[in-house]
Amino acid sequence: MKLKMKLKKGVPLIDQHDQQGFWGGKFGGSFIPETLKKPVEDLTKEFKKLRNNKAFLKKRDYYFKNYIGSPTSLVKLENLSNHLGGAQIWAKVVSEANGGAHKTKDIKRQKPNCDAMRKNGAEIVPVYSGSQTLVDAVSECMRYWVSNCDNTHMCVGSTVGPNIFVKICGWSTAQISRELRTQLKEEFKKIPNKIKLINCVGGGSSAYGFWSEFIDFDKKQIELIGVEAGGPKKSKLHAAPLSRNAKVGILHGAASYVCQNNEGQINDTESISAGLDYPGVSPIHCFLKDTKRARYTYATDEDALNAHVMVTKFEKLNPSLEPSHAFAEAIKIAPKLSKDTIIIVNSCGDAKKDRDILRERLGKH
Ligand SMILES: Cc1ncc(COP(=O)(O)O)c(C=O)c1O
Repeated sequence: MKLKMKLKKGVPLIDQHDQQGFWGGKFGGSFIPETLKKPVEDLTKEFKKLRNNKAFLKKRDYYFKNYIGSPTSLVKLENLSNHLGGAQIWAKVVSEANGGAHKTKDIKRQKPNCDAMRKNGAEIVPVYSGSQTLVDAVSECMRYWVSNCDNTHMCVGSTVGPNIFVKICGWSTAQISRELRTQLKEEFKKIPNKIKLINCVGGGSSAYGFWSEFIDFDKKQIELIGVEAGGPKKSKLHAAPLSRNAKVGILHGAASYVCQNNEGQINDTESISAGLDYPGVSPIHCFLKDTKRARYTYATDEDALNAHVMVTKFEKLNPSLEPSHAFAEAIKIAPKLSKDTIIIVNSCGDAKKDRDILRERLGKH
């Protein structure tokens, strides 16, 4: 029997799972070994307490403002919009809040971000297993945690992993849409009637954060568009489980759409963008796809590079390769839309971290 999935209004999406931790009865869960049950239960209790603790929220808001520098800007991309015609294109410049992120062999590919992390006090341990990308980093991290759970905990920067990690990460990134909602009201006096919120999707944390305040709106008013990594144009490899119709599988302790072969082995993925190069995706995005609240598509490496070139040519904005996937979709749809349509792209990363790849692919540009 096919399950009828439905979104609930007035309840944060991160909380719309069942007792077993599944969204829509089939995505998510907590596929963990016995030894991790206790630390996961403790973390779940602690999170439940802290998210309602006024002193903790005050401290969180203090750090958002004074350390991260929020709110990040919402800017109109006037030149790009005029060049393309059609809809107005705006950017929420979340990259202003960069604290660094890395993905194993990307210690080299993404050196400026690793330097930022070290400056913030992090020790970076390289991973030499598998393809040495994000998927292997998460596997290695979970392996370490299983063997050292008496003195170590896991912290993951995307809405993936066992249920509680999806919730904690989504709760944290939701700051983006809280800011955006206020900024829209300041800019337009109300929430405009035709909005499209476009975000790249790797694990799905920035997209969830960008959308969470707007999920209850009618999709005719606010359309949510997720853009995955289509990989190189001539390659069969991609990292687009939602838009290329992958089957459901288990990865990193949760059920989601996962790029896999016929035997259920996880596929290698390929993408010019380190952050999107991941074969699985958050269970909450699987739920948004199956309930049809969000639309998912993909951009190829070449589409993303072209979008990066176009945005940097017309605007004082330097989107990294991840949001360049989202800009590729904005550039594609804007000319067909009316002038009163507001497209907002989450420009979630700065291309400083991609300088070596960009130099290699675009030469002197
Ligand atoms: C700049 C940037 N954008 C997007 C992503 C994709 O991750 P997610 O889909 O969880 O936002 C990453 C991942 O590391 C990233 O570094």
